[in-house]
Amino acid sequence: MTSTSTTAPTTHAKLTAWVEQTAQLCQPDSVRWCDGSKAEYQEMLDIMVKGGTARWLDKTKRPNSVLIFSDPADVARVEDRTFICSKNKADAGPTNNWADPAEMKTKLNALFKGCMKGRTLYVIPFSMGPIGSPIAHIGVELTDSPYVVANMHLMTRVGSKVLDVLGSDGPFVPCLHSVGYPLVDEKGNKKPDLAWPCNATNKYITHFPETREILSFGSGYGGNALLGKKCFALRIASVMARDQGWMAEHMLILKLTSPKGVVKFVAAAFPSACGKTNLAMMEPTLKGWKVECVGDDIAWMKFRPRKSGPNKGKLALHAINPEAGFFGVAPGTSDHSNPNAMRSVDQNAIFTNCALTDDGDVWWEDMTDEPPAHLIDWNGNDWSPHSNKKAAHPNARFTAPASQCPVIAPEWQDPDGVPIDAILFGGRRASVVPLVNEALSWQHGTFLGSVMSSEKTAAAAGKVGELRRDPMAMLPFCGYNMADYWAHWLKIGQTANAELPKIVYVNWFRKSPDGKFLWPGYGENSRVLKWVFERCEGTAKAVDTPIGRLPEPGALDITGLGMDSTDMAELLKVDKQGWLSEVPSIREHFAQFGDKMPKGLVEELDALEKRLKA
Ligand code: OXD
Ligand code: MN
Repeated sequence: MTSTSTTAPTTHAKLTAWVEQTAQLCQPDSVRWCDGSKAEYQEMLDIMVKGGTARWLDKTKRPNSVLIFSDPADVARVEDRTFICSKNKADAGPTNNWADPAEMKTKLNALFKGCMKGRTLYVIPFSMGPIGSPIAHIGVELTDSPYVVANMHLMTRVGSKVLDVLGSDGPFVPCLHSVGYPLVDEKGNKKPDLAWPCNATNKYITHFPETREILSFGSGYGGNALLGKKCFALRIASVMARDQGWMAEHMLILKLTSPKGVVKFVAAAFPSACGKTNLAMMEPTLKGWKVECVGDDIAWMKFRPRKSGPNKGKLALHAINPEAGFFGVAPGTSDHSNPNAMRSVDQNAIFTNCALTDDGDVWWEDMTDEPPAHLIDWNGNDWSPHSNKKAAHPNARFTAPASQCPVIAPEWQDPDGVPIDAILFGGRRASVVPLVNEALSWQHGTFLGSVMSSEKTAAAAGKVGELRRDPMAMLPFCGYNMADYWAHWLKIGQTANAELPKIVYVNWFRKSPDGKFLWPGYGENSRVLKWVFERCEGTAKAVDTPIGRLPEPGALDITGLGMDSTDMAELLKVDKQGWLSEVPSIREHFAQFGDKMPKGLVEELDALEKRLKA
């Protein structure tokens, strides 16, 4: 094995000691420190192609891009194998799987022992956020997967420059990952690798909030393995944010420019499959308005003085996108739903579990109106439109550099972040929740976020769809007790002399009683963004209602949309009965948190009930 102490390109004693210790435990054949270079990225692709993990796509159709099929047993984040290992179970809360940290470490030590035999241990120093930004933080991932190295190159900032910022004693979050498939059998004899190595029976995605460590074993896929994303940037970062007075949120960040050139930045939290990437890159239908993308999945926000504008010098929440790429769900993405995402993956992209066309390109459901006559599906089998299986896995993904997005905002790498003027919350609700509703206060907005819900399935013939409460879209991503997280939100709202973003609850998914979407969505959502913009400017009119502030009739710009006035009225209706009938389920939702429940949110629920009954 290569000795790390002589080859480590850093004087950081704690880091080199941890790498050394991990190498002794996992017993890789060699250790390699990643420098983040383009050559290194290309080498990872070559290694994957040579090893049978990846195949090159047609060089003219998708230059420098590969397609990978994973093991069918390793296709998505495994929430039931994801653990928060805080000392006290109460600190993980009722919405997380908890495990005792010492017991989990013992279990994992046994699994990690010798797990990298026959493989290379890659050391990936990475920055979440622009390198050196005061809002950014550093992690180091140790992994035995070239797929992870390549994806981390696209999703984060990797390499020597990160080590420079780290210096000899800077803080970093240690992230250890193994696919859990050593290349020796029980007798110690060499065994061949698989195209997608993973461990079918043992998967553990574990987080240690007190020591800020991540250990992930057995899966090579997405958020289970690219540890900068959900594990660090949300679960561990949410704990750091609580301790340090900032926010780590599951939010896109967009830049909205009015026809007069005035700019507002909007962050928005939506549960999965509610069109976050589409909103972040949307093409407004309203003339003269422009949307540009700062980030499509995660926002880190810290209070900093505004650098310009009428409130120059005043404290405002400044957001960075801690990521450097998109790891987007491919199915459903098309030139119609998201042309800018399509252009982002034209080249230099990694496709996972998409289907392969006969001319060496990728395809997925709804990419085109007509599916190709023949494909190789994500399982490697022949596929035709008559097959009764999906060609791409429903969680098939593309990974692409954010810099390739045609509407990436010029500020997306600004180390100071962008000042957030409004925060949107949203879910998929066929009924009750109106198209747009501005919170009455920060506390009321926090309440709206805490009761956010999405329908798992659309309402079937007269039956309301099953609701899953997904507070702030953080249900699977909050690294500590959700009630303490809400208390942190309330505390942020009390920051002295700070300007707070407006909080607005939106719902693009309202349906008529016969099951048709009432709102056209996509680029037409710019009409709602315009109202939010004008509310921030103080120019748009709103009416106070028991549930919040809704656009006054005529205040929402629907010119040229040809909307039916009854549909419009339905979209902006305050459904008092609907809200009242939800109050008991909100009480039940809050009751899970017992004494930890912040008083402010219970007050908001009582006040809502009172207003609805008045
Ligand atoms: C994601 C998710 O992959 O939220 O971004 O699941
Ligand atoms: Mn996400």
